Amino acid sequence: MHKGSDDRPIGVFDSGIGGLTVAQEITRLLPNEQLVYFGDTARVPYGTKSKESVIRFSKDNVNVLLKHNVKIIVVACNTSTSWALNVLRKEYKIPIIGVIEPGSRRAVEMSRKQRIGVIATPSTINSGKYTQTILKISPSAVVVAKPCPLFVPLVEEGWLDHKVTEHVAAEYLSSIKDQDVDTLILGCTHYPLLKPVLQKVMGKHVTLVDSATETAREVKKLLEAQGLLRVSKHPPRHEFLVSDEPEHFRIVAKRFLGHDLPHVRRVDHV
Ligand code: DGL
Repeated sequence: MHKGSDDRPIGVFDSGIGGLTVAQEITRLLPNEQLVYFGDTARVPYGTKSKESVIRFSKDNVNVLLKHNVKIIVVACNTSTSWALNVLRKEYKIPIIGVIEPGSRRAVEMSRKQRIGVIATPSTINSGKYTQTILKISPSAVVVAKPCPLFVPLVEEGWLDHKVTEHVAAEYLSSIKDQDVDTLILGCTHYPLLKPVLQKVMGKHVTLVDSATETAREVKKLLEAQGLLRVSKHPPRHEFLVSDEPEHFRIVAKRFLGHDLPHVRRVDHV
């Protein structure tokens, strides 16, 4: 390792499988980087849990990743980012990136009328974090937030293009459509997989923003700025860790990524 580089892996955690959408964007943008992904499948979902539980789980997840000698940590889970990002940044020295700021910034850039919808888990919406973050960037914006708890199980079930999902989406999104938003933030790791249905329900004139791409850009910027890019010529070997049995993760991961994940290992929390 020479000066201005760092061959250690990037750590990514999520409540379960959904953060693979973020991990995938990171590997697409930074193909030479190595990832350690931890999905807390034993305790998923976080989206219906309390602030206290989400903070405790998030700290445990950071501790798992630190054991794998990561150089930065990406909190791919929106619910964890909502409640725990500030706490984690205070308690740990390692650089930590969440998904809410990047997504919010992108939405403000994209929105012509500054009328922005946010859909996410109940816990994320209750935290008010998206609304706060958007208003900090664009104080005159109008933010319409809506929890959509049924979307996560529908995605896990693989019902991405199913009439039931379309009905549920029409029901959830009607109050957001009434507010004439021109941009909709998909504030949950699972929602990018519902893009076709969500676009159909919202109409073509509404821009859908998912945080994954923007977060990956943020990771790249940080690694470059801090001289932390991996320079090794060996092809990267990503590791996927879960806190429950790996089989279910593998099956759903295939749905998320379109290909098999070869190495998925179960690890216990520290
Ligand atoms: N990863 C969660 C999020 O982005 C969704 C799944 C869950 O509820 O744990 O908020």
